[in-house]
Parts: sequence; structure tokens; C-alpha cells
Amino acid sequence: MAIIGIRRLRYRVSDTDVARRFFADFGLGPSGEARPGHFTLANGSEVEVLGECDPALPSSQIVGDGVHEVSWGVEDEGSLGLLADELGRDHSLEDIDGGFRTQLFGVPFSFVTWTPRQFANAPDPVNAPGVVRRLNTHRKWRRRARPKVINHVVFRLPDYVEAARFMRARLGFRLSDIQTGFGQYLRASGSNNHHNLLFLNANAHFPGCDGQLRFDHVNFGVEDIDELMIGANYMVRCGWQPSDIGLGRHRIDSALFYYLPCPAGGEVEYGTDADYVDDNWVPREFDVPLFGYSHFTHNVPPFLEREPEWSFKYLTEAQIAAGLGDV
Ligand SMILES: [Fe+2]
Repeated sequence: MAIIGIRRLRYRVSDTDVARRFFADFGLGPSGEARPGHFTLANGSEVEVLGECDPALPSSQIVGDGVHEVSWGVEDEGSLGLLADELGRDHSLEDIDGGFRTQLFGVPFSFVTWTPRQFANAPDPVNAPGVVRRLNTHRKWRRRARPKVINHVVFRLPDYVEAARFMRARLGFRLSDIQTGFGQYLRASGSNNHHNLLFLNANAHFPGCDGQLRFDHVNFGVEDIDELMIGANYMVRCGWQPSDIGLGRHRIDSALFYYLPCPAGGEVEYGTDADYVDDNWVPREFDVPLFGYSHFTHNVPPFLEREPEWSFKYLTEAQIAAGLGDV
């Protein structure tokens, strides 16, 4: 019953005009249907920015603006039926176009059959002293970032451990990594993204964690560091609030990141050069969460003024099976 990735995100926002302008500047392309606030990415995934009272929004228990529905793409009708059978045992399911919708831990999730659109990427070869892969050829010059995919979505949940267990046990998600007391990284079984979903501990001792169910951020995938920083520069020139931390690289999933505060709620993240994994990946537990958070950052935030202690461990199969890594 393979879930292959994020098909669509629906935002609930209090100021649709500002939020829609933000995403257009961020580089999301309009959908072919010329509906305001509807955006389509290169792989066919979509973002919708809807007002608080829009009837298309399902009810949710999420506090504040941000993503209020995650639509998961499922590989075929057979898998969709298996998912409906599994969730229908103890959840009410609502029929929607192409699939069904339900609510898990207060978050609306829908499941629809989906075949992602093919698209081309052509990252420039990288040179290093003594390793010349680009001779007499300059790198691509860009004007704008154009995110191609939705890599992952993140929520803060009061009981994030139990929620992660549910996604693994009932929906086939795989555990990729754990930050002790902070969050669990989950991969849909039909995806090679290091994670499609991150559940953060709403009660963690970290800025913005207030114990409530809240949306945190979405990661949009771009081709390389150049596209990531062209996008960041463009957003600053458009007058949007810049990132405090600036460019950085996570240690967990190895991805380059650039977060921006988002008027649609939470943050958006340009991401590139992440780890891609399959079932051979051995999940790790980062018992010093900040060691997993960053390899480097451009601006060192207060919580990283001291270099974190180097510490992590691989989880045993028994720990993974029991979901014991974080309890
Ligand atoms: Fe992220």
C-alpha cells in the first residue's frame, strides 16, 4: 500500500492576498486552472492557499495558520483500497475526488491515487581542487528559484511519539532518524526522500514549542545551492523578511537549507542535496538533538553558540521494531 509522496498541501490563512503573493514570489507556478491561490510544482504536486472560512477546508484541530490538510499520493487503486480498509477499522472516512479523507491526531490527511509528472533537473557538475568535472564551462545563471517538489511537511504534536508509531504501524511509514525528545523523521514507503513527514515534540524546550498542535514548516525542493540562494536573494529583494540563520546544512538528511518566515503560517524551506534512502537505511538516534540539527549555519543562532557535543547511535532492529528509540 505504497504512499509515494505529498500530492497537495492546503493552507488555511487569515490573509490570503499576502500569502498568495508570498508563494508566487517564492517561485511556485500558477496552476493551469487560473484559480487564485492555487499553485502547481514541476512534479504536479500542488499548494492551495485558502481563507479561514473556505468551504474546501476540512475541520482540523491545528492551532493557527498553516497547512491544514496533507494529501498523500498513493501509487494505485489497490493500495488506496488497502489504506481505506486499514484506516476504516477505527476512523470515519470521507469520500473525496480520487480517494478519501480522514483526521489523524487532529490533522486532516487525505489519500488519492497519483502519478507524479516527469520533469528534468540538470545540476551543474561540482569542481574541487584536483577534481575537474566542469572545464571551460561556467555554472547556470538563474533569475528565479522554481521549486520542483514538496519534500516534507512538519507538525508539532503533543504526543509525537505515538503519532509516529501510528504512521509506521498503520500506514507503512518507515523511521529514518530520531532526535531524542525533539522529533521523529518518517519516510513514506514508496518514496526515497529521507523524510516526507517530521513530527516534532510540541513540548520540546525550543522556541515556538508551546504544547499545542501546530503546523511548523514545509520543505520545497530545488535543484542545487545556486537555485536555493537565488530564491533567497529574490525574496529579500521583494521585501519579505529574511532568514535569521541563513544558509545551512542539516546533519540529519545532509540537506542544504534556507528557511524563511511565511505569512501563510510557520516557515517555508528551500532544500537541496538531501540524503535519499531506501529500506537498507539504518535509522539513527541523535541523543544530542542540536548535533543532528546542523552541520553548519551561515549565522550562528543563540542555541548553537556552543558547538553541540558529537553524539549519535544506530538503532538496533529490536528498538526500531518496538519504536523504543525515543522513550
Ligand atoms: Fe525541513
